[in-house]
Order: sequence, then structure tokens, then C-alpha cells
Amino acid sequence: MKQTPMKIGIIIGGQSSEHSVSLTSGNCIIDAIDDNLYEITPFGINLEGLWLNIEETQNRLKEFMHDERDSLGTDSGKHLLNSPEILSALGEMDAIFPIIHGTNGEDGKLQGFLDLVGIPYVGAGVAASALGMDKALMRNNFESAGIPQPKYLIFSNNDQEHLDDNITKQIEKNIGYPCFIKPCNGGSSIGVSKVLSREDLGSAWGLAKQYDQKVIIEEIMRGRELECAVIGNNSLLVSGVAEIRTSEEFYTYSAKYSDSSTELILPADIKSETLQKIQNYAINAFQAIDCSGLARVDFIADEISEPKIIEINTLPGFTPQSMFPRLWEAEGITYSELITKLIDLAFEKHSSERLEN
Ligand SMILES: Nc1ncnc2c1ncn2[C@@H]1O[C@H](COP(=O)(O)OP(=O)(O)O)[C@@H](O)[C@H]1O
Ligand SMILES: [Mg+2]
Repeated sequence: MKQTPMKIGIIIGGQSSEHSVSLTSGNCIIDAIDDNLYEITPFGINLEGLWLNIEETQNRLKEFMHDERDSLGTDSGKHLLNSPEILSALGEMDAIFPIIHGTNGEDGKLQGFLDLVGIPYVGAGVAASALGMDKALMRNNFESAGIPQPKYLIFSNNDQEHLDDNITKQIEKNIGYPCFIKPCNGGSSIGVSKVLSREDLGSAWGLAKQYDQKVIIEEIMRGRELECAVIGNNSLLVSGVAEIRTSEEFYTYSAKYSDSSTELILPADIKSETLQKIQNYAINAFQAIDCSGLARVDFIADEISEPKIIEINTLPGFTPQSMFPRLWEAEGITYSELITKLIDLAFEKHSSERLEN
């Protein structure tokens, strides 16, 4: 007897600079989800944080797929509290797959809302999402867990729009050049700069400040860029390791999304010792932020020193060409099976939380 499909809502778009990445991932998930098991409903959030009705989301997603538009726009949509029909449609879902990267999607706020209304959802909970989004908090947790990472300095001073001598001296004394400057809350390398000398410091600082009040300065890590994926709640599965090779200065926005010369080498040609270390640190990082569901953990490693962690992503890019699904494909888990697995994990987490309460 055929089972009634479960109702899965997918929440896409959002206000962050990764809006269109979310739409691409969303379209791919809708295409690939096992429709014997699930009936999927898209919930679109536009660039202003307003919610579109379901039919409009479906139409705009199709237009996005056919290159007729590049976002869900700003011209329509309603505040969620003024959209009883969207709220009640959300309430009918058995589970939600939130695939909004960045602010208000990956940082725990959407997850908090879903907790509040009691709907199971894919991925990390509130605390892990917040820690995984904030590069300063993330680094504190990695430090406590003993995971090797670059030296870093955090500046959370709100009114410091321009670099002054005092900050410059602190950076030069503690970090030196080349260094990396990043907004603490961000993604897709937006606002990230590699700084070679004092002359570039001011503009890099200004760029990072455009995206976040809080800025992190890091010592440069040298070596190959390697990525590893983890799935699970209490019992964790870790993937193999892939290498990213880019012809650009570092893995920039264009290297990620438009430069066809960027290469993804899977499996990475690394020593088994390095592979094991990365897999262990990936699991440590997942646990260090109390993550659940899924994460992609990024590293830089050379031949001599310990691999060092760049960051953990609690909602990594999710098109079939993205690293996260490809790492699992290499382990024999297809894109569609991966979606099913993540939804199962969402239910598992939800029921264990209910038992605890
Ligand atoms: N400390 C560092 N040393 C060397 N490269 C770095 C460092 N930090 C970041 N990078 C480079 O910048 C890219 C983006 O940085 P990341 O911290 O991952 O920000 P985002 O969250 O925007 O992806 C990395 O993929 C890597 O290529
Ligand atoms: Mg990154």
C-alpha cells in the first residue's frame, strides 16, 4: 500500500547576500526530492524579508530557473504576522527544510521560530546555527575544543568605522602580513580580503565593516584548501576530503560561483594521516558548536604542520554540484538519498528533544 507522502516545506530566498544561491539550492532540492515519500511546498522570503504566497513563490522560482529573474524581488510579499494563510500552510507541514544561507536563515533566527511553533526542521538548532554563523564565537569554541586554527583578533567596537593607528598597531603586533580581514557574520567570501601590507588595510577594514559591525583579522594559513562533510545528530558520519583549487588569490565569491577554472578534486590527494586528522577535527568542530543534522567543515593544510580549520558551515551550498552533496555522492549517497537522510535526522532530533522536555 502506498503511504501518504509527508508534507515538507522548503524555505528559500531571504535577505542575505546569498539569496540567489539559496534559490538555486531550493530548485535543485524540489527537483530531486523523492516524491514517493514527500510532497514539497516552497515558502519564499524576498530580499526585504517579506513572505510570498506559495503560488507566487512557485512562479518566481520557475522564472529564476529559466534566467528570467535573479531573485524573489522586493515588489511583493507580506510580513509573516500579516499572512495568516502562510502561517497556516507552515503549520500543516510535517517538517521544514530551511535552505536560506546567511542572516535570518542560517544564524539561528529561523530555527528559533521553527522551535517555537514546534515544527521539525533540517539542520542545526538555534545555538549551533548562531555559533556557526559568527566567526568570532566559532573561533572561541574551536579554541576550547583544541582544534588547530590561525591566530586571530576580534574587533567588535561598533563606532570604529575607520581604521586608526591603535588598531593598525594591534594587527601588526599580533598578526602581521599577509592577513585576512572578514566580517564576523557573512558567507560566500563576501567582504573577505587578503591584506598584503599596511596600504591595503584601511580599504579591507572598510569593506568588512560594510557587512558587519564585528570584524575578525586572521593570520594567513598556507597550504591546500580542503573540505569535509559531517551528517548526524548523536551518531555522526564523516565524509572523505576534497580539495578546492582556484587560480584566484583565495577562494573568492567569483572563484566559488563563476570562475570555470576553479577545480574540485575529490578525493583530495593527501596522506592518510592528514585525511584522518581532518576527519577527526571535522567531527570535533561539529561537536564544539553542538551541531546537528549537517555541516561542511573547511580547512587549510600543508605537508608539514597540523591542518587548521577555516570555518564550519551549518547550511552549506546544496546544489548537486556543490561540495557538500558531492562529498556524499563519493560515499555512495545520492543527492536524493541525502535529502531523505537529512529529513529523517530532523525527525530524529525533534522526537529526542520532545522526550527531553
Ligand atoms: N586565515 C586564512 N588563511 C588563508 N586563507 C583564508 C583564511 N581565511 C579565509 N581564507 C580564504 O578565504 C575564503 C573565505 O573565508 P571564510 O572564512 O571561509 O569565509 P566565508 O564564510 O565567507 O566563506 C576561504 O575559503 C579561504 O580561501
Ligand atoms: Mg568559507
